[in-house]
Amino acid sequence: MRIAIIGCGYVADFYMATLINHPQLELLGVHDRSDVRAKAFADFHRVKQIYPTLDAVLADERVQLVVNLTNPSSHYAVSRAALEAGRHVYSEKPLAMRLDEAEALVRLAESRQLQINSAPCSLLSETAQTLWKALRENRIGTPRLIYAELDDGNVPQRDYWNWASASGAPWPAKDEFEVGCTLEHAGYYLTWLTAFFGPASRITSFAKILQPDKGIELAVQTPDFATACIEFLSGPVARFTCSLYAPHDHRLRIFGDRGSLSTSHVWDYGAAVRITTRNRFTGRAEKYPTLAALAGLGPRTVPLVRKRNFKYRTGGANPMDFCRGIAETAAAAREDRASRLSARWSLHVNELVLAMQDPTSYGSPRDIASRFEPLEPMPWA
Ligand SMILES: NC(=O)c1ccc[n+]([C@@H]2O[C@H](COP(=O)([O-])OP(=O)(O)OC[C@H]3O[C@@H](n4cnc5c(N)ncnc54)[C@H](O)[C@@H]3O)[C@@H](O)[C@H]2O)c1
Repeated sequence: MRIAIIGCGYVADFYMATLINHPQLELLGVHDRSDVRAKAFADFHRVKQIYPTLDAVLADERVQLVVNLTNPSSHYAVSRAALEAGRHVYSEKPLAMRLDEAEALVRLAESRQLQINSAPCSLLSETAQTLWKALRENRIGTPRLIYAELDDGNVPQRDYWNWASASGAPWPAKDEFEVGCTLEHAGYYLTWLTAFFGPASRITSFAKILQPDKGIELAVQTPDFATACIEFLSGPVARFTCSLYAPHDHRLRIFGDRGSLSTSHVWDYGAAVRITTRNRFTGRAEKYPTLAALAGLGPRTVPLVRKRNFKYRTGGANPMDFCRGIAETAAAAREDRASRLSARWSLHVNELVLAMQDPTSYGSPRDIASRFEPLEPMPWA
């Protein structure tokens, strides 16, 4: 499928790092509202065509799918223009910064029989698919409680002004802090949890600005800490935390009646999955994990459903195949089927993320209205 990238910033280099794994995706050209950035990106990656405007992209009849890698505040306008021009869309997260806009995008896509899917696509990772399979196989009994963490360390106190992508795009600190770490990151685990457990029925959230001075002038202050309890229609409850303050912790733990499943790295497609099966020694073993490991009572590794074996170029990127989501959107469009990253699911995640970061506007507790059809695992899982 022939694609065009809009937005040639920091994350676009991550996409280029794994495009090589998807030869069915043909990159026709790129566009950025900054000519300088578009040229630096195109030169670095040897992209032949730079489109001067978004209209020029959409006037190119060969482009079938638009990859929207712009800043979140541009997502709605760029995705809407692409859909109105009859193109499928794969968008970086969130679908939109407002729920009514995200809903409008999904309705527009449906009315035109087009795909619109949103990142993150790490649900398609070997790690997430392994966890999901273990749950389907009832390896830990009925799951009732999930603890998920997306603490990214004290980023404002780090030397973020030195961070740059492979082609030289600076890490967009101002935008990241203004958009907020929850809108930026909560989707990583909310996509997994909603895929595993189905739609959430209610979210109760709390968000706060812990560190207003982030070393850069900001036009708006946005919470750098949010925590939420999410109730799923199917029964389980998740307690999920995002921050730019507490030390780096990306753990996911799923507790069931007969044991627990866990992983430590949501940003590694091949992160280990561990299982603990409950028995009469487990209570004591949990208290003394080092001794338990020596006695062979600690968590065991669940073999990944397949080895993480994609190629990716280094340059700051985590071992994540960012293009796997585009490939899934393209395959769904080609095969005229629902995507494994369906539009209704992306909208559901968008609603949860907005409600988690901004309980004042979206209400807490909030009954979640959006729903989605169950998603399919990858064929190899
Ligand atoms: N920075 C990260 O580590 C990271 C990781 C994963 C996902 N993301 C997501 O990727 C997206 C982009 O983030 P980024 O870090 O690359 O930001 P960035 O600011 O580095 O790049 C965004 C680019 O989009 C361009 N742009 C913005 N609006 C535009 C428009 N209307 N038309 C054309 N070009 C436009 C900007 O000029 C800029 O070059 C965001 O949704 C972000 O949440 C970022």
